[in-house]
Amino acid sequence: MKTLKLSARDPETPEIAAEIIRAGGLVAIPTETVYGLGANGLNEQAVAHIFEVKGRPQDNPLILHVADPAEMERFAKDIPPEAYMLAEKFWPGPMTMVLPARDVVPKRTTGGLDTVGIRCPDCKVTRAIIRKAGVPIAAPSANISGKPSTTTADHVLHDHDGRIEAVVDDGPCRVGVESTIIDLTEKPARLLRPGGITPEQLRAVLGELVVDEAVTGQIDPTQVVKAPGMKYRHYAPQAPVVIISGSREKASEYIHHFYESGDRVLCFEEELGLYSDCNPLAYGREDDVPTLSAGLFDALRVLDDPAIHRVFARCPEGGGVAYAVQNRLKKAAGFHIINAEEIGETE
Ligand code: TXA
Ligand code: MG
Repeated sequence: MKTLKLSARDPETPEIAAEIIRAGGLVAIPTETVYGLGANGLNEQAVAHIFEVKGRPQDNPLILHVADPAEMERFAKDIPPEAYMLAEKFWPGPMTMVLPARDVVPKRTTGGLDTVGIRCPDCKVTRAIIRKAGVPIAAPSANISGKPSTTTADHVLHDHDGRIEAVVDDGPCRVGVESTIIDLTEKPARLLRPGGITPEQLRAVLGELVVDEAVTGQIDPTQVVKAPGMKYRHYAPQAPVVIISGSREKASEYIHHFYESGDRVLCFEEELGLYSDCNPLAYGREDDVPTLSAGLFDALRVLDDPAIHRVFARCPEGGGVAYAVQNRLKKAAGFHIINAEEIGETE
């Protein structure tokens, strides 16, 4: 199959992409977070095809993307007032709400659950495609399962060229990490995955918010978890990644001591000079965290190279969007973190 590369700026793109979706095909769609591998979310066969192409475990549910916030009522029931408040404030935007599913949503889409994740993305062309298709688009991040997510159309083609009908190119994703997932089927609501909408923003609307343990630590794969996706190894390049925390000076001392040829250092732009002898790769600026979230997955993809033995990574501190960057990087590192402040003399 030849994969079409459709430009978001071409006025015919929404109709062409919508036609493929209606016919049960796969279209990689841009969003403000990451590119998704989309299909008609109400068509079991099309959805099964997403799992197959992505190599995704069947129990891991997909997010349904809608063109307008009000459409959540078509796919979710018993919607609590909090969901309307969040939708009003953060949609279209990088937030997914888990709600009780209506029967129209196939179990294939929800991974067998009674709930469904719904999101109204902040991306004009994708919402135009959904509107024209007349069906919600189910889409996981478009990466092959386990690999770093896709934040450009070229990332999508790298993983799936010739295996999907089309990719819609809308340039690099603005946010760069996947949506915040919040479970509203319990009270207080539970944060299942941090993202572009921060815990602080959610608390400002909801008051109380529980942070799921899968956000902060490694989950045993045999455990029953709220977001099945959280238990799998994720976002990882082939080489082991280890996060080196602590001050710039202490981290540099540690990394310089242990660095060997074949290793790489994933750092902030401000630190490039410091690691000029350690094959550094910057993913954004520490003093401008959105550049870190926007650049993280592209950098992890560059580092996904069999010639690399080990990656020492620097991770931003603090809350806000940094919280989402920490979550993705910790998962890529399998929660392997070394605090350079706690290491004694390394010389
Ligand atoms: O930003 C995003 O959310 C991107 C773009 C394409 O919208 N999508 C995305 O999808 O990241 P995916 O499939 O890579 O991650 C979705 C996560 C998975 O961890 C899945 O387990 C969880 O959402 N999820 C989906 N539906 C759920 C549900 N009903 N209950 C609990 N977790 C759910
Ligand atoms: Mg994903």
